[in-house]
Amino acid sequence: MQSSLSLLVVATATLALFILEITAVQPYVTNLRRRAPDDDDAPSLCALIIEPNGYPCTEHNVQTNDGYLLTLQRVSSRNSNLRVQPGHPVLLQHGLFMGGDAWFLNSPEQSLGFILADHGFDVWVGNVRGTRWSHGHISLSVKDKDFWDFSWQELAFYDLAKMIQYINLVTSSKTFIVGHSQGTIMSLAALTQPDIAEMVEAAALLSPISYLEHITAPLVQRMVGMHLDQMVFAMGIHQLNFRSNVLIDLLDSLCDGHLDCSDLLTSITGVNCCFNNSRVDFYLEYEPHPSSSKNLRHLFQMIRKGTFSQYDYGRFKNLRLYGQTKPPAFELSSIPKSLPLWMSYGGRDALADTTDLQHTLKDLQSTPELLYLENYGHVDFITKPSHFRKSLLEDELLLEPVEKLLENERTGFMR
Ligand SMILES: *[C@@H]1O[C@H](CO)[C@@H](O)[C@H](O)[C@H]1NC(C)=O
Repeated sequence: MQSSLSLLVVATATLALFILEITAVQPYVTNLRRRAPDDDDAPSLCALIIEPNGYPCTEHNVQTNDGYLLTLQRVSSRNSNLRVQPGHPVLLQHGLFMGGDAWFLNSPEQSLGFILADHGFDVWVGNVRGTRWSHGHISLSVKDKDFWDFSWQELAFYDLAKMIQYINLVTSSKTFIVGHSQGTIMSLAALTQPDIAEMVEAAALLSPISYLEHITAPLVQRMVGMHLDQMVFAMGIHQLNFRSNVLIDLLDSLCDGHLDCSDLLTSITGVNCCFNNSRVDFYLEYEPHPSSSKNLRHLFQMIRKGTFSQYDYGRFKNLRLYGQTKPPAFELSSIPKSLPLWMSYGGRDALADTTDLQHTLKDLQSTPELLYLENYGHVDFITKPSHFRKSLLEDELLLEPVEKLLENERTGFMR
């Protein structure tokens, strides 16, 4: 009994560490205690980071078909010449345990959200259910276990679908998508649906994932092996919130001489070439955001089975929900061949493995543009856009260059 209890404790703490895509634990723990999460009167993302950098920003609320209340931010250029006529819409979709803030955490020159706004794009920032910016629901509260009854497949079919639809409605234009990590798995799943794909101009995927069979991160492999996802459920934990006292205390005690926490980030994400340790305190004011235990479990199912499928409820419930004993697979071949895809992947990314990416590419009908960055780990795609921004903008995927906008202004051409 004693030993199974301590196993649970270690399991939970290890899980907490996994979440920590940011850095070593000590500053993390100290900082987490500072902010009370889920405060409804808390300042908005626009007010906290985006406007102070000089960028016009507005908050937009949408309601998903299953009742979640999400917030999108809309950001435009500091240059008023570029604001005369809004550029092409682009939706930025963050990864697991992150929020829309992830695109704005560095200087304007080193944050993709600001870079795209400065290039004249009409930048929309997605925030999935459960994050600090999107924790509302028409009838549920974050304290209800049912609120957390979702995985990335709901984030794709409900959240992403609704955000794209809203942008479509407001701008009367198809949108570009830029996704990172979980944002790419959501995008790929959503784009297999014709009604969503037809609202999308093109997608750029950073650290693209769909199949997860070959994840090399040692800490993740260990957690999958010890069935940490099932343990968390057994403990009745539905919300994975790493600002909760239980998990913070566990982190505290675990790093107090019991575990080497300094190489944590590396053992989860791979070696990041360009992580700026002196910005950790600032990152931790915003990251990580909560997600659901079910989401983690869905990802672990995929790692174990090597499938890109819907959530596996077990044979009987699968039969009831899906009409078959196994969860239906997402057919990457259903993504329209005509939809341009651009992908950038890192040589040191321990989560988005190249073997898995090959699998994804084999299933697709189209041939995406690929940019390989040998030195990049998983987090570098967020914190160091400078090595791919040129390619992203020049591979004509997100082509709405500043010159074209300016030229349109000169000739008085209106779209
Ligand atoms: C790292 O962050 C610090 C503090 O924000 C900043 O002054 C410095 O320029 C950054 N270094 C790099 C290489 O970006």
